Amino acid sequence: MTKQRIISTSQLSTALEQLLADLHFDRLFILADEHTACHCLPLLGDGLTSHAHLITIPAGDDHKHLATLTHVWDELCTHGATRHSLLLNVGGGMVTDLGGFAAATYKRGISCINIPTTLLAMVDAAVGGKTGINHHSLKNEIGAFYPAQAVVVCAQFLRTLDMPNLCSGFAEMIKHGLISTEEHWASLMRYDMHTPDLDALQSLIMESIHTKEGIVAQDPTEQHIRKALNLGHTLGHALETHYMRRGTPCLHGYAVAWGLIGELYLSHVREGFPADKLRQTIAYIKDTYGTPAFDCKQYDELYELMLHDKKNLGTDIRFTLLGGIGDIRIDRTIGRDEIFEMLDFVREC
Ligand SMILES: NC(=O)c1ccc[n+]([C@@H]2O[C@H](COP(=O)([O-])OP(=O)(O)OC[C@H]3O[C@@H](n4cnc5c(N)ncnc54)[C@H](O)[C@@H]3O)[C@@H](O)[C@H]2O)c1
Ligand SMILES: [Zn+2]
Repeated sequence: MTKQRIISTSQLSTALEQLLADLHFDRLFILADEHTACHCLPLLGDGLTSHAHLITIPAGDDHKHLATLTHVWDELCTHGATRHSLLLNVGGGMVTDLGGFAAATYKRGISCINIPTTLLAMVDAAVGGKTGINHHSLKNEIGAFYPAQAVVVCAQFLRTLDMPNLCSGFAEMIKHGLISTEEHWASLMRYDMHTPDLDALQSLIMESIHTKEGIVAQDPTEQHIRKALNLGHTLGHALETHYMRRGTPCLHGYAVAWGLIGELYLSHVREGFPADKLRQTIAYIKDTYGTPAFDCKQYDELYELMLHDKKNLGTDIRFTLLGGIGDIRIDRTIGRDEIFEMLDFVREC
């Protein structure tokens, strides 16, 4: 898989002008959702948007499906997109996933550039080449590995993003810190999420992206080390589904942050992850995300959800754990009793 070019900038319109001047394309298309069309397109500059055909789609993961994709294909067709046209995906992970898949499939593949506008898309969804849509109520069921030509990262977009979505993206950054270096992890633990400084965040975002890129480069199709990116997600996905089922959905990053509490506890018990770093990370997560609400009556349900996570084979529940910061241990099998102990720990901590 070709490596994506990542451009970090605080001068978005200038950076885009330079980038597009180097590329050969006949027509320019911009994909945005109804919120990013209004909050984010102005940052691209009139010079660029006045030359492009804008395709707007409804916002939110509930619209990341075939009907929306068909609308994008129709717009490309009726406005004369050719194999040499270029699509700019301006939005969160919903837009970069769906737009990336539209680009992968239209005329067997046209070029696209991701311009992520949420923190989660900057550090996760827009990098790594996974694109797709939901299908038959299954998340990301149809998709392709299709890296964008470039990803343009500008933290200034985050000025209009709400606090819960900002915190949600930061959880993936904490995960990247834990699987990278002590230095990076420590700089995240010092970052004040209550009064976010976007200039400081820009450089932390770039470090976070480099962590993800480094892992993806070693294992593009998730056969081994890419599983490091699942840290916090085995329990996280179970909590996310549990919250959704009881009618109080939570943002993905909140579930991941709570998942990290449990999976760092397992890392401590099974792999010797240091107690001081466990305490410090948990304190940061509690301060930013609070703690999840569940009780022991839900343990069986959470256990079943983890067992049926699509990343597990047969009856084993496999976790990605850590022996220390950056010391990644994949495919660790954990039994039912230890999982219940982990749930006790998350509830009590
Ligand atoms: N491809 C991958 O590797 C990967 C990884 C993680 C997540 N994802 C996918 O990403 C999606 C979630 O992404 P997300 O959290 O960015 O959600 P999202 O794209 O749904 O955006 C969340 C909300 O914020 C709004 N928004 C976006 N940018 C804004 C801005 N700058 N100012 C104001 N509002 C703004 C959006 O319109 C939306 O209402 C899911 O579909 C998930 O499956 C993909
Ligand atoms: Zn995630």
